[in-house]
Amino acid sequence: MRSEILTILRKAGEEYVSGAYLAERLSVSRTAIWKHICALKEDGYDIDSKSRNGYRIISSPDLLTPGEINAVLSTEFLGHNIKYYKSVDSTNNVSKLLAQQNAEEGTILISEEQGNGKGRLSRGWFSPSRKGIWFSLILRPNFLPQEAPKCTLMAAVAISKAIRSVTGVEVGIKWPNDILYEGKKLVGILTEMNAEMERINYIIIGMGINVNITHAEVPEEIRDSATSLLQITGKKISRVELLCAILAELENEYVIIREKGFSPILDEWKKFSVTLGQEIKVIGINETFHGKAVNIDDYGALLVDTGNKIERVLAGDVSI
Ligand code: BTN
Repeated sequence: MRSEILTILRKAGEEYVSGAYLAERLSVSRTAIWKHICALKEDGYDIDSKSRNGYRIISSPDLLTPGEINAVLSTEFLGHNIKYYKSVDSTNNVSKLLAQQNAEEGTILISEEQGNGKGRLSRGWFSPSRKGIWFSLILRPNFLPQEAPKCTLMAAVAISKAIRSVTGVEVGIKWPNDILYEGKKLVGILTEMNAEMERINYIIIGMGINVNITHAEVPEEIRDSATSLLQITGKKISRVELLCAILAELENEYVIIREKGFSPILDEWKKFSVTLGQEIKVIGINETFHGKAVNIDDYGALLVDTGNKIERVLAGDVSI
């Protein structure tokens, strides 16, 4: 109901829309309309009410509601089904339940905050309310399960391109999926999958983008290693605009993969990589070693020259 009221008010632009008109269009009482307007004001919408003329929107808060997103979104299918929450434990966890209930490919689940945001390697993810973009995307690609890392690389490329075009910030990608600026982490991606031997049932790509978090708001233990777009640019960034740009890039990349294969995305990933060509330390699941990152292969594995041989790293962490 609230998003329908907003759609009508947005369409009217500078004009006032009467409570009677809204009540008739939406088949509810004028009192119900008034209660929804009060709730929208509490959410941060600046709505002017005049007893004779009705209601007019003056400004909208930077909320990631379906109404705000739909007003800007330009995709063909990705993000057309939006699940929006004020708070969840983890958007990846809730997305898994949705995917198990057959949610369509391209569904996104957004939460203004996460109480228990998940990072890679059983770490947490700091997700304060309305300060970042915390969302998960459900895909059902017809890849083999071992090709799933392609989705993570695709997401890293799409987010890097969107951040560069919306904010001008020249971010880089650290293998496998961290987006950094001057060595500090700006974006994390956590991909989870449900698959059989030869078939992926669904993939959840969870993306966390630090947008409007001040230095002081960041917990002390990650203050030196994390950053946000606000800290880099000194400006508040529109989360709606950035999210819609990310969704457009994701759709574009996903269509390219389906039509032309993975190599165009791999080429873009290499262009943004801050890992390739560097002497690195690999903290693998079973061992730690040093070497030079020389390439990534078609499955997204990092190829590291240790001096004796080329190691193929599929999982783990690297430090530069
Ligand atoms: C990392 O450790 O770098 C990955 C962090 C991924 C965080 C995002 S926020 C949205 C989604 N939901 C989660 O619980 N985690 C991912």
